[in-house]
Amino acid sequence: MNSSRRAQGIAPFHVMDILARAKALEAQGRDIIHLEVGEPDFSTPEPILKAAMQAIRGGDVHYTPALGLPELREEIAAFYRTRYGVELPAARIAVTPGASGALLLALGVLLDAGDEILMADPGYPCNRHFASFIDAVPVRVPVGAESAFQLTPPLVERYWTEKTKAVLIASPSNPTGTLARDEDVRDIAALCSARCATLIVDEIYHGLVYEGSPQTALAHADDVVVVNSFSKHFHMTGWRLGWLAAPVGLMEGIERLAQNLFLAPPTPAQFAALAAFSQETHSILEARRLEMKARRDFLLPALRELGFSLPVTPQGAFYLYADASRFAADSFVFCEQMLDEVGVAITPGEDFGETAPERYVRFAYTRPLPVLQEAVARIRNFVSGSQA
Ligand SMILES: Cc1ncc(COP(=O)(O)O)c(C=O)c1O
Repeated sequence: MNSSRRAQGIAPFHVMDILARAKALEAQGRDIIHLEVGEPDFSTPEPILKAAMQAIRGGDVHYTPALGLPELREEIAAFYRTRYGVELPAARIAVTPGASGALLLALGVLLDAGDEILMADPGYPCNRHFASFIDAVPVRVPVGAESAFQLTPPLVERYWTEKTKAVLIASPSNPTGTLARDEDVRDIAALCSARCATLIVDEIYHGLVYEGSPQTALAHADDVVVVNSFSKHFHMTGWRLGWLAAPVGLMEGIERLAQNLFLAPPTPAQFAALAAFSQETHSILEARRLEMKARRDFLLPALRELGFSLPVTPQGAFYLYADASRFAADSFVFCEQMLDEVGVAITPGEDFGETAPERYVRFAYTRPLPVLQEAVARIRNFVSGSQA
């Protein structure tokens, strides 16, 4: 039986090939260092676990309202007040099954068939698939080091057509870890607003920023849509919980979509997340952010010293998107060979778009420092062979 053309049009993750190969090597007894997976290695902080256990034991396992537990929406509103100084009514917040659910709702409520959405390439691959899934058209805008791999107002102008209805920015970005400049986010929001389109900003990695403190797009304009998640900064990937903040006029449409697509976000995860903004959890998360920074501060210069090109210092997330063209013409083959020869798994650029993917590889520094040190020693052995 054939799957739909829509399903066939969705590209698989090439990193899955790398992962399968890594697992096969592990089954043979090889020691593999995993730097391919975009997921923090830390477990969920204890206060969050405790809140979840309590809720489950207390019988809080039924559906919540489609837009989420009212008290969690209030907590998220308070988070914007405390962290960014932004007043956001809870009525403008929807709790969702991960940022993934939030992105699907955002695109679903904003775009009709044939509408175009601009997004940076390289970028998070699911975004273009969310767009195609609803018969909208993802327009991939090639970005490079000169714009820190982010959209800028001139780039948005250049790719704008009369069909453009949305622009999507992820800051910090996956796979590059780079930030969009606050003023660019503000100006792109204004540009969209003036042309009856909407800026969507994915701030999932905002909690993992190591230089400066970017402002949320909600501080610049009321008519943007902001996506966030408990997955990365709060170390809750498997709990499947995120949120979006949207203009009040979109909330009714978002609620109807959420009711029909998901009924509600997962209840135990929502009760768990009530503990995510406590002072106790904050201290744990802050220590982990500093640990991530220490990892970046080790791995970035080490890779540069080995000969990878990383012209822009990534200020956030836990990714380094490195140009490996000095070592190989095809980064996928480079990843395969590095895995086979020295047991370090990384992700080929192909997973993130069409902009010179054969030159790039993504390192996720989701392993402790001693493991990263071992990885660098192994990569040194490997690339000294590649260059010879
Ligand atoms: C930029 C970006 N947005 C969204 C997501 C989806 O995250 P979630 O686990 O919250 O669905 C990811 C996951 O890797 C991501 O990197």
